[in-house]
Amino acid sequence: MKIFTEKTQIQNTIKQIKAKDLTIGFVPTMGALHEGHLSLVDEAFKNSDVIVVSIFVNPTQFDNKEDLKKYPRTLEVDAKLLSSLSNDIIIYAPTVDDIYDGKTVAEHFSFDGLEFEMEGKFRAGHFDGVGTIVKRLFEIVKPNNAYFGKKDFQQFMIIKKLVEKHQLPVKIIGCEIHRETNGLAMSSRNMRLKKDYKQAAPFIYKTLKSAKKKFGTKSAKKVIEWVENEFSNHKLLTLEYFIIADQETLKPTIRKSKKKSYRAFIAVYADEIRLIDNIALN
Ligand code: PAJ
Repeated sequence: MKIFTEKTQIQNTIKQIKAKDLTIGFVPTMGALHEGHLSLVDEAFKNSDVIVVSIFVNPTQFDNKEDLKKYPRTLEVDAKLLSSLSNDIIIYAPTVDDIYDGKTVAEHFSFDGLEFEMEGKFRAGHFDGVGTIVKRLFEIVKPNNAYFGKKDFQQFMIIKKLVEKHQLPVKIIGCEIHRETNGLAMSSRNMRLKKDYKQAAPFIYKTLKSAKKKFGTKSAKKVIEWVENEFSNHKLLTLEYFIIADQETLKPTIRKSKKKSYRAFIAVYADEIRLIDNIALN
């Protein structure tokens, strides 16, 4: 298992890989790896020769300093988990200085409006931070394929837009949401949930599934009202938003059209832990 902390080191290795004409599959992460991350690595193994996983808690995508501070950092355990899949995986775990060259600021991007919906409304500057780090990582790792989870569906759409607008030579592959057996979408934040909240959290996916059923016969407005009501009665979980949106534009749905694909998106606070999830509706 190779762990690089400096970009000059990994850039040398990347040069050697490229010289052999091998394809590079890249999985960017912020670490605290779980089976959801590993499912992306599994996917990468299907169609790339060499797998690179980055582990970097990116400060410029956090709008909340406390959240950044408390974000779990578990590099040793992460490396062990990855080595259980394969010893050939390359890990790039840079320091903030190595990747930001001493200037820890985000570039500003336009993602044609995708950035103003949902997470963009509730987490100021978040997608500028994500765009900045992912573009930089692509420049260093030079992947042929990069894998993103649909757990963060808006991020996945934004990365596809980033690649399209900047004509980056990388194929973006979206991977399905990996869940606990109780339905809770796996997340690095789940390990911070206190017992009662952990028990309560599967309610989020249960509600999404019921919303999907209702969406077959009811209007978007009625489904939204139903979900908001379900959460208003909940003792432990606080709804931040529930939105039904066009899967391509991420704009909220006013009237359903048979030609379009819709998704429901949700953000919930379980104590101070923010959880997000989504589901395809049709
Ligand atoms: P992180 O939250 O660590 O997630 C890394 C990747 O794993 C993302 O593509 C995310 O969508 C995916 N992922 C997380 N949980 C998943 C699950 N339960 N099922 C499937 N995929 C899952 O997303 C980020 O890091 C950062 O924003 C990053 C892209 C690395 C930029 O800093």
